[in-house]
Amino acid sequence: MITLTTIADVRAACDAARAEGRRVGFVPTMGFFHEGHRSLMRAARADNDFVVVSLFVNPTQFGPGEDLAAYPRDLDGDRAAAEAEGVDALFLPTVDEMYPEGARTTVHVAGLTEGLCGASRPGHFDGVTTVVTKLFSIIGPSRAYFGRKDAQQLAVIRRMAADLDLPVEVVGCPLVREPDGLALSSRNTYLDADARQAATILSGALYMASEAVVRGQRDAAAIRQFVVDTIAQAPQVRLDYVEVVDAGTLEPVDHLTVDTLVALAAFVGKARLIDNVTITFPAGVPTPDLGVLTASSGPQEAEH
Ligand SMILES: Nc1ncnc2c1ncn2[C@@H]1O[C@H](COP(=O)(O)OP(=O)(O)OP(=O)(O)O)[C@@H](O)[C@H]1O
Ligand SMILES: [Mg+2]
Repeated sequence: MITLTTIADVRAACDAARAEGRRVGFVPTMGFFHEGHRSLMRAARADNDFVVVSLFVNPTQFGPGEDLAAYPRDLDGDRAAAEAEGVDALFLPTVDEMYPEGARTTVHVAGLTEGLCGASRPGHFDGVTTVVTKLFSIIGPSRAYFGRKDAQQLAVIRRMAADLDLPVEVVGCPLVREPDGLALSSRNTYLDADARQAATILSGALYMASEAVVRGQRDAAAIRQFVVDTIAQAPQVRLDYVEVVDAGTLEPVDHLTVDTLVALAAFVGKARLIDNVTITFPAGVPTPDLGVLTASSGPQEAEH
């Protein structure tokens, strides 16, 4: 695995790979790798000839008062993990490399970025779409891999790629969970033991809500209220939002008839965590997709 820090060097490496007829797969990350990141690297490795992972804690997607300075970092561990997943190139730009003096351009996706996390993190998605556009332009991937933990981000990136005719296939990958259901996140490292225990209520509430849908519940307001009430039982958890939305447009739905995303964000201890479940309706039968549990989960799989 080569490590590159300049735009010129990573662009040259990707140009050289393409000149040999190799297809470039790309995984953008902020580092502190866990099994979620590694699952994206594996998917990219399986589908492409030259795999590039970027590791950039992008300051423009953090709001004032958010955790930019505290964001966890482990460059040696990340390098070893990427190497073990067969990554070809790790791109590690500095902030000055990505945002030189004088930059004035922002990519903004309207509508899809306003609700859910966009409402409580103004400007966050502009930071994401701008940096991802830059990274796509630098790396020129045939395919780029994003996790379904960040369901709104995936929808926004898909919309952006379509609207701007970007020549990249945006691939959504399953949400990876801890054995007890907690969605893996680099920010889970902020949780102390009590907060870590309390955080399981998030996936537990979503799991029970999706079971209610399987049993016949179709009223979005009732599902939303169930999740709110369930999480209210955990005093350490402060809900930011719970929304029941169309999985494609992210517009709120009243009645579940289409593929539906139940998405939430909550403050637990020092962390702001997100989670979601997608409920699809193939031939009228609702099927929840809560994601995948990590290999160590074993027989606990059904417990929530
Ligand atoms: N549990 C997960 N399952 C699948 N993909 C994930 C998971 N967590 C993160 N990803 C994906 O990894 C990519 C890089 O995300 P990022 O580096 O922000 O990690 P993160 O765990 O989301 O960190 P944080 O929660 O602090 O934002 C994104 O596409 C994200 O959706
Ligand atoms: Mg993230």
